[in-house]
Amino acid sequence: GIMRRVIKGGTIVTADRSYEADIAVENGVIAEIGPDLKGDEVLDASGCYVMPGGIDPHVHLQMPFMGTFSADDFESGTRAALAGGTTMVVDFCLPDPQQAPLDALAIWDAKARGACADYSYHMAVTWWGETMFDQMQAVTRRGINTFKHFLAYKGALMVNDEELFASFRRCAELGSTALVHAENGDVVAAMQEKLLSEGLTGPEGHALSRPPEVEGEATNRAIMLADMAGVPLYVVHTSCEQAHEAIRRARQKGMRVYGEPLIQHLVLDDSEYRHENWDHAAQRVMSPPFRDKRHQDSLWAGLQAGSLQVVATDHCAFTIEQKRFGLNDFTRIPNGTGGLEDRMPVLWTEGVNTGRLTPNEFVAVTSTNIAKILNCYPQKGAILPGSDADIVVWDPEKSATITPERQQSVVEYNVFEGREVKGLPRYTLARGEVAVEDGAIRATPGHGRFVGRPPMGPVNKALSTWKAATAPRGVARSAANMPGGV
Ligand code: URP
Ligand code: ZN
Ligand code: ZN
Ligand code: ZN
Repeated sequence: GIMRRVIKGGTIVTADRSYEADIAVENGVIAEIGPDLKGDEVLDASGCYVMPGGIDPHVHLQMPFMGTFSADDFESGTRAALAGGTTMVVDFCLPDPQQAPLDALAIWDAKARGACADYSYHMAVTWWGETMFDQMQAVTRRGINTFKHFLAYKGALMVNDEELFASFRRCAELGSTALVHAENGDVVAAMQEKLLSEGLTGPEGHALSRPPEVEGEATNRAIMLADMAGVPLYVVHTSCEQAHEAIRRARQKGMRVYGEPLIQHLVLDDSEYRHENWDHAAQRVMSPPFRDKRHQDSLWAGLQAGSLQVVATDHCAFTIEQKRFGLNDFTRIPNGTGGLEDRMPVLWTEGVNTGRLTPNEFVAVTSTNIAKILNCYPQKGAILPGSDADIVVWDPEKSATITPERQQSVVEYNVFEGREVKGLPRYTLARGEVAVEDGAIRATPGHGRFVGRPPMGPVNKALSTWKAATAPRGVARSAANMPGGV
C-alpha cells in the first residue's frame, strides 16, 4: 500500500489562521488534515507550529557573475534552504548576450539536477531584439511567468529604458509579471569612477556609490513604465525608504506593485562596511548595500502594514578567495551574500519573538504571499489537502548560535555569524520526504523538481490611459487565478 506519514500533535499555522490538527502525507502531497490521524510513520509535532515550508523567490546558485560563479550550487543551496525550513527556491536564468532564453534554460536545467528541494526560475531579459518577442512566449509555455530586468550592472546585465519598456509591454501581453533590480546603473558607474579617482578603493566605497537615491529613482522609473505598459511589477531586494515609498504610493493608487525586502537588509546595517577588517566588510558587499536604522524601520513597517509582501535572501554566496578579487578596487568585489539557511530562523527571532510579526504574518511573508504572486498557490505556500507536502515543523523553543562551522553553504563565513536564533525546524518535509530531522540533514540530491507557473489572467489593467499601452500583437491568455490578498 501507499506509505502514510502523519505529523501529529502540532498547531497548524497558515497565513489565515492557527488551529490544532494532524496532517497525513501520502505520495508527496497532503492527503488529510484532522484530529487523531493514523499512519505508518508518525512525526511528533507537539509543542511545534506546523507551517507551509518557506519559499525563497530570490536565489543565485552557481551564477556566472563578475568573472566567477557564485559558490553554492543547487545541491548545497537547497540543502541550506531545507536546513532552515525553506522548501522551494526560485533562481534566475541569465542568457548571455544574444543567447536564446531557451538555450540558457537548458543550461539551468542541467545545473538544477542536484537540487534537493523544488525550484523554479525567473527568466532574465539581459538583451533585446526582434527574436525576443517569440522567445518570451516560448519561455512562458515552459512554465515561467516572471521576467527579470537589471537596471544596474552597466556593461553587463543592465538593460536600457527602451529595452525595458519593450520587454514590459511584451510581459503584459503574455500575462507575466515583470521583476526589476532597481538601481540606476549609469549613476552608480559615475559614482564608482569618482570615488576610485579620489583614491577610495575599500569596501566602504561600495555603499557610497549606491546611495538610497539611486534605488529610489530606479524604483519610481520602473513603476511608471510598468504602469504605462500595464504590467504587474515586483521590485526585488527593496532596501530603503525611498523605494518603499514609491511602492506604497503605487499600491495606494491601485497598481499591482510588490516589494521584497531581504532578511539581510532587515537586520544588518551599513556600519558593516566601515569594519576595520577588510574581509569582514567585503563579505557584506552586496547590491543594494546595507542601509542605516531609519531604512530598516521602514522595511519592518512595510511588512507590518502590507506595503511590502515578501522576505527573501538574494542568496549569492562567494568564498573569501572570491571576495578578495576586489582587494584593490571595491568595484571588483563580487556582489552578493548568503542567507538561505538563516532567513526563517532570523526572521522568526527578530520578527515574531520581538512582537513585530504574528506567526501568521510570518507564514504570509515567507511563503504564502509569494506563492500567490508567482502563481503556484496552493500547490505551494498552503497547508491544504492536495497541496505539496512542503512542510516545516517549527520548534519555537529550539535555539542556536549561527556559525559557519555548522552551516550547509560551502562558504567559510556567515554574515549573521554569532547571532542567537530561537525558533528552528524540528522537521522539514520536501514533497513528503523528511529532509531535516532534528538538525540532521537527510536531503536527497535530485529529489527537487521544477515547479511550472502558468501565466496569470485576466491581464493586469494599466491605470495610465496612454493609448499605446495595448501592444500591437495580441496573445491568448489563460484564465488562471490572479494573485489575491497580498
Ligand atoms: O549583490 C547582489 N545582490 N548580488 C546578486 C545579484 C543581484 O543583484 O541580485
Ligand atoms: Zn539584484
Ligand atoms: Zn539577486
Ligand atoms: Zn525523492
